[in-house]
Amino acid sequence: MVGMEQPDLTIIINLLGRVIIRETNFEASEYIADYIISRIQSFKPTEDRPFVLGLPTGSSPEIIYKTLVRQHRNGEISFKNVVTFNMDEYVGLPRDHPESYHSFMYKHFFSHVDIPPQNINILDGNAPDLAAECASFEARIARYGGIELFLGGVGPDGHIAFNEPGSSLSSRTRVKTLAYDTILANSRFFGNNMDQVPRRSLTVGIQTIMDAREVVIVATGAHKALAVEKGLEGGVNHMWTLSALQLHPYALIVCDRDATLELKVKTVRYFESIEQSGTDARTQGPPLVYRPRTYVPAPVGVGKFHQPHITSEIAPQKAPKDLRINTELNPSMEDDELTPDSMSSRMVDSAIGGLDSTLKGDLFFDHMGSRVVSH
Ligand code: GLP
Repeated sequence: MVGMEQPDLTIIINLLGRVIIRETNFEASEYIADYIISRIQSFKPTEDRPFVLGLPTGSSPEIIYKTLVRQHRNGEISFKNVVTFNMDEYVGLPRDHPESYHSFMYKHFFSHVDIPPQNINILDGNAPDLAAECASFEARIARYGGIELFLGGVGPDGHIAFNEPGSSLSSRTRVKTLAYDTILANSRFFGNNMDQVPRRSLTVGIQTIMDAREVVIVATGAHKALAVEKGLEGGVNHMWTLSALQLHPYALIVCDRDATLELKVKTVRYFESIEQSGTDARTQGPPLVYRPRTYVPAPVGVGKFHQPHITSEIAPQKAPKDLRINTELNPSMEDDELTPDSMSSRMVDSAIGGLDSTLKGDLFFDHMGSRVVSH
């Protein structure tokens, strides 16, 4: 095929199961920001061939966004030809509520960079038909040819996006009821009042994340240590949805030292030795080469969305029938998975407040804790 390069297998072998450990949250975040910038720059996005980036909210990515904004202001990176898809959003929280993920993203990132508004995709938790909104979101991702790099955080109970313990590992974007632990953890953003935390969310599924060409997870703080241990050293398990990434060929987990506290010394040493052997993950990743897309356009009439101009180079290829995404509206997609009432028994003591104690100083233009509204 014209322009197609053969991937270097030695590099791919080194990339499997990449874990990068830095001493502090700040260093881990800067590493990820550098990595994202290098991936976008290597991709050389254009308007017709944008870089498709999946993004999270939460306190973990705050320094990453701050660094990306700083580098943008320094002229190092443009987001003009970047299309974003956010992982999740609360259901029923007004879009302009200070704790909505819409507010978070504009406050911390979008309003500080040159991304065109039409390139931003965030699930609408107030859509009249939530199932249709979820199907439309998947269809929009498909129309862009899939996500190139999905950045995510992880909850203290091991969830990625809002894929709570018990989520199907083959799930796609859908409505998800929040687990007790997540309501408890996120109540710190709602005046520590659990009653103020929305009970439901819209979230990409595990399979949506797994379909991204590359997944990068930030895990910082001692309260994430158990999730990192279960996700890395445990088996693939729907009770710790982070563990699904063991099956992803290009997953990169970047931790601070505290987040490794529950890992075996042997595990930590091994991942450190990989980096010391000269493998710099920042300069690597999946080969940025032409590859046939397995996605097909959504059926006519599913959602209204921005239709990018797709060149023949990136136009979705006709996929075999069994590879099609089913974007038919499916009322049963709502919360059809096993979610135990509470995962509290599995939580470490420091699960809720741990990160807050590390978020001090003027590194942040807005520490989420300071945005808590008392009701
Ligand atoms: C929320 C989000 C997740 C995020 C997690 C961890 O539940 N839905 O996407 O990864 O919280 O958040 P934090 O980084 O604040 O610990």
